This record gives sequence, structure tokens and C-alpha cells, in this order.
Amino acid sequence: MNTAQDAARDLFRSVTGREPEGVWSAPGRVNLIGEHTDYNDGFVLPFAIPQRTVAVAGLRAEDRIRVVSTFADGAVEVALADLDALFPADAGSAARVPDWAAYPLGVAWALREAAPDAAAQGIDIAIASDVPVGAGLSSSAAIEGATASALNDLWTARLDRTALARVGRRAENEAVGAPTGIMDQMASMLGAPDAAIFLDCRTLDAVRVPVGVAEAGLVILVIDTRVSHTHATGGYRERREACERGAALLGVPSLRDVSVADLDSARRLLDDVTFRRVRHVVTENQRVLDTVRTLREQGARAIGDLLLASHASMRDDFEISVPELDTAVEAARGAGALGARMTGGGFGGAAIALVEQDAVDAVSDAVRDAFSHGGFAAPTVFPVTPAAGARRDA
Ligand code: GLA
Repeated sequence: MNTAQDAARDLFRSVTGREPEGVWSAPGRVNLIGEHTDYNDGFVLPFAIPQRTVAVAGLRAEDRIRVVSTFADGAVEVALADLDALFPADAGSAARVPDWAAYPLGVAWALREAAPDAAAQGIDIAIASDVPVGAGLSSSAAIEGATASALNDLWTARLDRTALARVGRRAENEAVGAPTGIMDQMASMLGAPDAAIFLDCRTLDAVRVPVGVAEAGLVILVIDTRVSHTHATGGYRERREACERGAALLGVPSLRDVSVADLDSARRLLDDVTFRRVRHVVTENQRVLDTVRTLREQGARAIGDLLLASHASMRDDFEISVPELDTAVEAARGAGALGARMTGGGFGGAAIALVEQDAVDAVSDAVRDAFSHGGFAAPTVFPVTPAAGARRDA
């Protein structure tokens, strides 16, 4: 167990020659449903997963911050006073710190901005993670959540979980340069065993909704396609811009303000591509609401068709799926999964499938076979259960 924690502790000791003051961790997430709705002020239903990122930290005498991780060799060290010169990073300019270091250093910068009275002091942080990187499971939000939690405690910043999620998103947007919403950070901060987080991204009101998968005799499988992606460039940003364009043309603050009943009139005001982008977001918001209601009234067994409809909408209207993700969904479905969909930002990453406990092997095998026939690299398939959010472990 605790391999990430052991790795981070060892790294901390070997780089600093001291014992750490504490250990913090934050999980990755799976999104049950509600994709590309967060930055449209809409609804999402993610849950935290058992895979976590660990930050081991301790204060130091010099006013410097040093970060080290198992992601890359070598420590990155800057004076606290220089964080303001590093961030916000100018879009398109050459990174002034290695990619991975922009996450923890960006969090330190954003946390000081959010809590100017915090007792910011020199600190060493060692990071290790069990969350697969580039799999669409929010390894970045896990780094942000673990680092923000460590800094919040050691700098006595006293920010609440929602504020720490905002710190993480700010680091992601302005230090890393990925124009993401706040779903992943909120899921990582607020996750709870056995529950998904029903989040209104306009108000940031969050309600825990029991998923009840095990009670229903079901399992949620993650199918990591191993198609790596980044949201700092390309398609994610384009989709976000299309949504903003759609909202502007429809004369609303955000697509949250468009309902399914409005779509017929929206079609007349928008070009075909923009309309389909809008239709995905509007119908996806409705599917989140329907999923929450269905979970409460009928249980997990009844949400399969909503997951499938979500995937079809992302494949056909939002156009963010890839052949590997479609293959995963179709193969899982063909082998009896009740529902399946890609999860996360798209263009690679992972799908989830809702399957009977006694069909896990059959579905896993069918997915592996389909990948092999399609000429794709072998996927990684594993079960997940909703798990706890960010916390101090020691
Ligand atoms: C990524 C982003 C999130 C969200 C999803 C798509 O995970 O980080 O903010 O936009 O994509 O739902």
C-alpha cells in the first residue's frame, strides 16, 4: 500500500536531509456525467477515486520554495518573492519552470494571492502520485489539491475546501495555461466514500449524492485508452471558445441559461457546428439533472442509458471522442455493460463502464479484444469506487 507516500517521503529526505512535517494527499477523479458543462456554469457529477497524489512537506529557514517529484529528475527552487514574476505565465511564452513544476509553484502563487495574510514561509515539498498522468483522471487536480492542502496548513492560510479548489483552478488556468473549469479541483477537494459530488458550477453549491453501485450489484470500470492528451492546447480550448461564441450569439451570459426547450430557436441563430456544440452542453446539463434524480429514485442500475446518451453527444455533437474511446464504449456495451461513456475532457484519456459484478471479466476481455482487433495499444482496465477527498494523512 502507500507506495506514493513512501516514495514522496524518501524523496523529501534525500533532497532536504530532514524529516518532513506532514503528509497530505488528494485524489484523482472520474466524472460520472456532465462533460464540458463546468466552464458553461452548468452541472457536473464527478467522484473522487482511490488513486491519490501525495505531497510531503516541511518549512525551511530560507524564504524559498523547493519542489521535487517522482515525475522528473531534479528539484526546482525559486525565491518566494519571485513567484509573482513567474505567474501568471504569458500564453505562448516559453515556460520558465519545467511543466510539472508549474502545478505546485502555481498553487503556491495562487494561494498567496487568495490568502495575502497567510504566514507564507520557505518550504520544501516532495510529490509522488498513484494517479495515472494523461489518462483523463485529473492527475493535475490531484497535484493541486495535495499541494494546496499542505500549504494551507503549514502557512495557516485557513482557506476552506472550495477556496482551495479555486486556488487549484487558478494555478491550472494561469500558471499551467490550461483553460479548464473547476470540476476536477472540486471533486478532488470534496470527494467522499460512496458518493458523487453534484456540483452547480455557477454557485459552487455541492451536494453529495450516494452512487450505490455496489449495493446494486454493479461495478464502475475505468478503461484507460493510454491515448495521452493535454488541455493546454488544441481542441479543449476550441470547444470552450465555441461555447462562448454560442452563448454570445444567443444573448445569454452562459450556456447554463439555455434549456432543451430553447434548442429549436437556437438552431436558427447558429451555424451548424456552433449549434451542435451548444446542443451537447444544453442536453448534457439536463442529463446530469436526470442522472441525479434517477440515482435517488431508482438507483445506479437505471442510469445506463443516460451514460450512453452522454457519450453519443460527445462523439457526434461535441466531437471530442477518439476511435479508442468509441471502441471502449461499444465493446463494453456489446459485452453487457449497462452504460459507458468517455470521461473527462476528451481527445484521449479514459472511458467508464457500468457493469454487473459478475460481468467484469467478460467486459474487460471484450474491451481488450476490441482494442487488439482495432490495432490499438492495450488499454488498462480497473474498477473504481468513490473515495475520500483531499486530507492530511500524517
Ligand atoms: C477537463 C477539465 C474540466 C472539465 C472537463 C470536461 O477535465 O479540467 O474542467 O471541463 O475536462 O468536462
